Amino acid sequence: MVSSPILLDFQSSTPCLREVVEEMSSYWIENFANPSSKGNLSGLYASAALEVSRNKIQENLNLLNKKIIFTSGATESNNLALFGFARNFQQRTGRYGNIITLKTEHKAVLEPLRQLKKEGFSITELNPESDGLILEENLINALRDDTFLISIMLANNEIGVIQPIEKIFKICQKNNIKLHTDAAQCLGYIPIKNFDLLANMITLSSHKIYGPKGIGLLIIDEDIQLNPLVYGGGQEFGYRSGTIPLPLIVGFSKAIELANKNQLKNSIHLATLRDQLMNGLLKKNSEIIINGSIIDRLPHNLNLTVLDVNGSMFHKYIKHQIICSSGSACSNGNVSHVLQSIGRSFKEAESSVRLSIGLNTTAFEIEKSINVITETINNLRK
Ligand SMILES: Cc1ncc(COP(=O)(O)O)c(C=O)c1O
Repeated sequence: MVSSPILLDFQSSTPCLREVVEEMSSYWIENFANPSSKGNLSGLYASAALEVSRNKIQENLNLLNKKIIFTSGATESNNLALFGFARNFQQRTGRYGNIITLKTEHKAVLEPLRQLKKEGFSITELNPESDGLILEENLINALRDDTFLISIMLANNEIGVIQPIEKIFKICQKNNIKLHTDAAQCLGYIPIKNFDLLANMITLSSHKIYGPKGIGLLIIDEDIQLNPLVYGGGQEFGYRSGTIPLPLIVGFSKAIELANKNQLKNSIHLATLRDQLMNGLLKKNSEIIINGSIIDRLPHNLNLTVLDVNGSMFHKYIKHQIICSSGSACSNGNVSHVLQSIGRSFKEAESSVRLSIGLNTTAFEIEKSINVITETINNLRK
């Protein structure tokens, strides 16, 4: 009997939790009204449900002086933050200033910034250190008189490293620069005590935290001004027109509640399995190196390079037994820009793999994965 492959790709996406689906269910059929149709009773009910969800998110995330804007996901939130803020800055000041980011950001940050460069802004892409983390002094040295925005992710989607965002935010505040952070991979996995101390603009995504796909958040300071990307009926404070997807928002708010409530328990469980995987693989294979800091790291991420094997053969063999990622899910099969930015060669980046653990992953599956990877490496070396 052929057994189904082990799923270790939970940073690409997660399944919806049953409680999340149950919470959403009545909003698909019975309570389907448009929250903006406040002239009728069903619309009023939908509008109240929207506010309940918004308040629930605000409470769970402990947001004091922040506004939340619902988007379709982290890609849109990043685009809204970067295009919205930069274009508004240009209109307010008449200047095209400088924006700083990291070479290891997700494409949903790098590509909008490259587009802004074509519009006239200056973009600085900094290299992190070999452990994937940015050195504060490198950031300070890169600041220019015209730097008005910095975008640095909280945790990396490929190598899982967690940037010292609170320290970066202090540098920004001292220099009167606004900070955006893509925190799509973080909620429920690491403790975030105070969102007010993270950044002026924060991106979150629902499908990374066991919520529905197609919904995300951009959290902004009350005084942040953005040019919208989408114009129309003026929903979401005029920043994001279009009919509000209430079922998705109800589901996302439930997923946030559960992620928050279970963060400690879940992260201990995930880190225990991740360490089992890492230690098992390192014990059996001297030719494996771990990419990224192992200390400042998401609990469910492991990214490793197998030295001196053919990358495409390695992936070809393991893919029938383990579902995992050779880069980020969104990189369309390109060799990882993240791994190359932290010093891996093209060939090493090709023979690398991201293994990301889910809430239902078992110790048995981890043991089996260690064996599959070890046997594959041994066979390729024969
Ligand atoms: C760090 C990061 N940013 C942005 C995205 C894009 O997220 P979404 O699928 O919600 O648009 C992802 C998804 O892989 C991600 O990991």
